[in-house]
Amino acid sequence: MNKIKLEKKIIKIFKNLQLSNNHAEISAKALINAELVGAYGHGLSRLKMYCDRIKKKLINPKPKIKIKKISQSISHIDANNSIGFVSADIGIKTAIKHAKKTGIGMVAVKNSGHYGLSGYYAEQAVKKNLITMIFTNAPPAIAPYGALKSLFGTNPICFGAPTGSKIPFILDTSISMINRGKIRVAARNNQKIPLGVALDKFGKPTINAKKALEGVQLPIAGFRGSGLAWMVDILSGVLTGGNHAGKVKDPFDDFSGPQNIGHLFVTFKANLFQKNYNQRIKQNIKIIKKLPKAKGVKEIMYPGQNKFYRFKKNTKKEILINNNTKKDIQELLIN
Ligand SMILES: NC(=O)c1ccc[n+]([C@@H]2O[C@H](COP(=O)([O-])OP(=O)(O)OC[C@H]3O[C@@H](n4cnc5c(N)ncnc54)[C@H](O)[C@@H]3O)[C@@H](O)[C@H]2O)c1
Repeated sequence: MNKIKLEKKIIKIFKNLQLSNNHAEISAKALINAELVGAYGHGLSRLKMYCDRIKKKLINPKPKIKIKKISQSISHIDANNSIGFVSADIGIKTAIKHAKKTGIGMVAVKNSGHYGLSGYYAEQAVKKNLITMIFTNAPPAIAPYGALKSLFGTNPICFGAPTGSKIPFILDTSISMINRGKIRVAARNNQKIPLGVALDKFGKPTINAKKALEGVQLPIAGFRGSGLAWMVDILSGVLTGGNHAGKVKDPFDDFSGPQNIGHLFVTFKANLFQKNYNQRIKQNIKIIKKLPKAKGVKEIMYPGQNKFYRFKKNTKKEILINNNTKKDIQELLIN
């Protein structure tokens, strides 16, 4: 489907559900960007879920978002259960504004919802020559190391830095072996998942996506991944006033209340300590890229390069949408 036409349809769907034009546009752009970078598990496959939550009054279409300025560099946002895209957009823009003024910006957000891809917000900061670190927690998917029950989300860790070129360095990774969105898409389309990424509810390794959703996902690198997930839960949940310790509700399955997710946005000027940052980062990347390559590797890439290439390739083409999502869009346009 043509990108502009698709965006118009998604905006219409959100506006029909009482979102303002601005909020509908922010949300539609974030969802379409996920499709363009190939993060299908965080794109239009989630559209119906957001709409269901708005209809059930668990996402507030007309939020009164409060921004409390704590200092010239620090703000605390109460998102009033807005759709996550909107609170994250305000969060990163506020953090950028603070960093431009004082060198560093820190913004905590509470009472928010699922905001999609952390890297999408990191790009905004990196474009302004800022380094950024972004954290969000997510519903239970992973058992803390040593526990039998899932509690941590796939809690992504995102770090963005300018590279002195138009392709930003953006490490944006779940702390699970694969992200939950991919498992949901596989479950919906009756596809298998790789071995070694999840256990079923009896603790047995599974390649069945539906059984994986009932069981637990595995963290990257055992107790190290579990520790990172815990760190994200502290930074985006405990610190911000958001839900934490397994209390974030699953947006697809749990309609007993709003998610109250927390996010943390940290941004700072890349040349805070070394005026020639740009020269230094270019040199750093050059040295690494020149290393001898492992068999089959054409280019040593830095994080973010693959998504940048995919985005560039995909923006030239029509957006391919699977039948399930097409059906969702058609039904949502009518209702
Ligand atoms: N909002 C939420 O609750 C939530 C939860 C989990 C994940 N997410 C999002 O899902 C997205 C996907 O997460 P993921 O863990 O599947 O990411 P991924 O595994 O696709 O990529 C992880 C990182 O590795 C880098 N990378 C990939 N291939 C590389 C290569 N060959 N060389 C060098 N670097 C490479 C990527 O650029 C990326 O920075 C992220 O944007 C994340 O923010 C969101």
